[in-house]
Parts: sequence; C-alpha cells; structure tokens
Amino acid sequence: KILILDFGSQYTQLIARRIRELNVYSEIVPFNKVPHLDDSYKGVILSGSPFSVTDENALKIDLEPIIGKKPVLGVCYGAQYIAQYYGGQVQRSEKREYGKAKLHRIFQQDGLLQDVPIDSQVWMSHGDTIMSIPEQFELLAGTESVNVAAFKSKDGAYAAPVYCIQFHPEVTHSLDGATLLRNFVVNIAGCHGEWTPKSFAEHSVAELKEKIGSEKVLMALSGGVDSTVAATLLDRAIGDNLICFFVDNGLLRKGEYQQVLDSYEHLGLNVHGIDAKNHFYEELKGVTNPEAKRKIIGRLFIEVFEAEAAKYPGVKWLGQGTIYPDVIESVSVHGPSVTIKSHHNVGGLPDKMGLKIVEPLRMLFKDEVRRVGKELEIPVNILQRHPFPGPGLGIRILGEVNAEKVKLLQDADAIYIDNLRKFGLYDQVWQAGTILLPIQSVGVMGDERTYEQAVALRAVNSVDGMTAEWSHLPYEFLAKVSSEIINNVKGINRVVYDISTKPPATIEWE
Ligand code: XMP
Repeated sequence: KILILDFGSQYTQLIARRIRELNVYSEIVPFNKVPHLDDSYKGVILSGSPFSVTDENALKIDLEPIIGKKPVLGVCYGAQYIAQYYGGQVQRSEKREYGKAKLHRIFQQDGLLQDVPIDSQVWMSHGDTIMSIPEQFELLAGTESVNVAAFKSKDGAYAAPVYCIQFHPEVTHSLDGATLLRNFVVNIAGCHGEWTPKSFAEHSVAELKEKIGSEKVLMALSGGVDSTVAATLLDRAIGDNLICFFVDNGLLRKGEYQQVLDSYEHLGLNVHGIDAKNHFYEELKGVTNPEAKRKIIGRLFIEVFEAEAAKYPGVKWLGQGTIYPDVIESVSVHGPSVTIKSHHNVGGLPDKMGLKIVEPLRMLFKDEVRRVGKELEIPVNILQRHPFPGPGLGIRILGEVNAEKVKLLQDADAIYIDNLRKFGLYDQVWQAGTILLPIQSVGVMGDERTYEQAVALRAVNSVDGMTAEWSHLPYEFLAKVSSEIINNVKGINRVVYDISTKPPATIEWE
C-alpha cells in the first residue's frame, strides 16, 4: 500500500482515489501522524497544502524516518518542503501560479516521467516557487514559468529514491497525471495492483470472520447503499450471527418498507422488520419545529432499536455502514483538526450496551462501496439509490406530521420518482424528492373550485451534498409529473419546482 501524508490540500483525497483506481490500496493520515513504516508500505506521498513553507507556522515534520526508507513522492507543498529541508531554496512568489501549464523542458526521461510527453499539460496551484534544488537532487523538468517543475534524488543519494513535482498529478487537468502516478506507484514503489473490489470483499470477509469469531453482531439497516453493503459483507463472514433491523418509522417512501425487506430477503440477510409507524406518529403529534421533529425521530429510533436489541442478550458488536470520508482526519488551514463524524444513527447505544463497533467499509469511498456492492451482487436499485435523510418524509412535510399527510406525500412522490426512472433521469440527478407545503391554494377542477395543498418538486446535482445545483429537468418531464400528480392525488391541486441552489438554500426544506 501507499501512505499519503496529508498537509491539508483540498486535493489529498483525490490522490488516494487515483491510486486506488490503479487497484493499489492507499491510506491518508495527517502529516504529523506517520505510522511505523513496516513492509506493507511500499511508498510515501507528501501532499500539497494551503500553507507556504516560508510561513512561520508552516506544517513541519521530521523527514529522517521517511526519506531513504521508502520511495517518496512530494507533490507541490510536499516537493517544496523536501527541497527546503535538504537545503534548496524556496521563495514566496508575487502571485500564485494557478491553472494549466506545459512541461516544456524535460531533462531526463526518468522513471517517473516515462511515457509522459515532452509538452505534457499539467495543473499548477502554488504560491511558492522552488528557486534551487538541494545538492543531492537533479532536475527532471521545468515549465515555461518555473524552472523547477520536477526533480529527483541523485542515484544512490538515499537508500530509496525521492521524487518531487510542483504540479498536481491527481487533478484530471494534468493530462498525464495518471501515467505519472502509475510510474511512481507501480514501477518505482513496486505495488502490484491487486486491490480490487473482489479482493477487498475476500479480505474483508476473512478479517471479519477472524475478528468476530462466533460472537453476534446487531445492525440497523436503512435500505441505502452503505448499510446494505456493510451488512452483506458481515453476512458472508458470520451468517445468521448477524441480526439486522429495518424500522418502519412511517416516514419512508411509498411501498419502500416492503420493497427493502424483499430485497434483503433476496440477499439472504437475516433482517427483522419492525413496524413502529404509529409510535412515531403518536410522538410527532402537534410538533412543527423542524429540529424538534428531527430530535424526536432520532430518539424514537434509538428507543425502538434498544427495545429490539434487548431481545438478544449477550451480543458483543454493533455493525455500522461508516465510510472513509466520515473517518478521515482532516488537516485544515486552521491547522490539523480532527473532524471525525461517525454514522451514529444509534447514538450512545454502543457505550450504553457495552457494544464494540465494527465498520467494514470505513476505508472505502462511496464509489468503491458501489463497486464492492456490485461484486456482491447487490441489486442496482439499492446501489444507485439516491441519498435519503434519516428523518425521511418527516422533514419533507413542512409543519406537523400525521399519517394522512404522509400518505398524500408518498403518493405524489411516487409519481415523481417513477417518472424520473421512466424518463431515464433518475441516475442523472444526485437526489430528488417531493415536499408537502403547509399552504392551500385555490384551483379549479371541472366546474368546481378547489382549495387544496401544494407540493414542491426538488432535484439537485451534487458531489457530496455540501453544495448543490438544482437540476435542469426537461419541461416535458415536469409537465407530465405535474399533471399526473394533480389528476391522481386527491388533495393536491398545485405543483411547483424548486430552483434554489445550495448555498444559500439547503437541499431539504427543513
Ligand atoms: P441539506 O438539507 O442540509 O441536506 O442541504 C444535505 C444532505 O443531507 C441530507 N439530510 C439529512 N440526512 N439526517 C440525515 O441522515 C438529517 O437530519 C438530514 N438532513 C438533511 C439531505 O437529504 C441531503 O442529502
């Protein structure tokens, strides 16, 4: 595997992904938490950073335990840091060099630049410039604007080679970035590309078997990608010692409870469906504040889970679908900070019940989870499912929630989502849903005046839900959905389309 030391660049995760695309496992750790470099590590990459190496508070580490021990690649800040550390000169430049550049002088077709064309386009994003490289290094390439774009340690200078590049090979605008990374990871570091979804699944099942033995694991499933893939891996490892719950909180989509249970049955998972609808409706009565609704839904979920879990004394483990982006310790401009958020759907339960946590996917990115899911033959309707919030329709019914409103929204939403599929649009939007508005408006149906509710349709494109653009769905599609909802869902006489971007709006309305 390859170790990536994170100095806080926004691109660090991309480096990890690019390497994993070569079927080589890579791991990100904060720059100041270098693990013992045992044989499993074949190479080390030092990432970029929002800092300047000339800053007083620049992020610094001792390179002695790394350089010469494993092949090293310094990227941007990593390159500047290595240059300065060994006596080269790095200067703060007047203006930041940002954007595309061409490697126009390659001094050596060295291993790192093998198959990289002389005039390869690279992506630059740096404020410091390397003016001179240390004595024990030699120049590999420059660009029009900087003399030093790539350099390496002279043969024999260290027990393992050190490569440094000023540009960002992990960004797709560096057209030969993938080739360069392959050169480093495969040719120089000697990794073999054995890390595939299949090998991950096999290793993971073997590891889980070993770790859990004959103990029992409890897990709450949501019908989404992560929890389903995690549960399937656990199922392959420990079979019926995995006990899963799927709770109907009365806030799921139309028909979803049964569909999800059927899919789980088909996958051979040991899942207990728990119908807690009325319990949720009861407690939500009269509550209109969005945060209050969220809290109640969260608390009830834990209570329901706890009550079920009590039926299985002696259970030692709690399974969770946590994925890599949730656990990477991030280094930010404010210095290293630990922002670990875990999918604590079941809150303080692990502590309270003395459960140990097992998270089979904690090292995978979302797209990798999907690839593993495909390998495990999990149906596409689960793998490609849009994200759906834990509080479900509870935060899409503005104001008080009750069974009648849920039914109304479920019916309208089913028409929307079915048509997205029919029009081939479902996979083109990141998330879509219908919101029941707490207003009535006047309409006319036949000769009759109506005074009924309105729904808003929401569809967004996003990468991670942090920012989002409203999807430009075709007018014919919107027209079809609108008339189908108004003609078929009694109680709704108006449909609007939400054209707000996040920020400043959010994806959900509550
Ligand atoms: P917002 O509305 O904050 O949503 O733009 C961003 C993403 O998060 C989902 N979301 C939630 N998920 N519990 C969840 O599990 C919640 O309380 C919650 N609120 C919003 C939302 O569906 C979108 O994907």
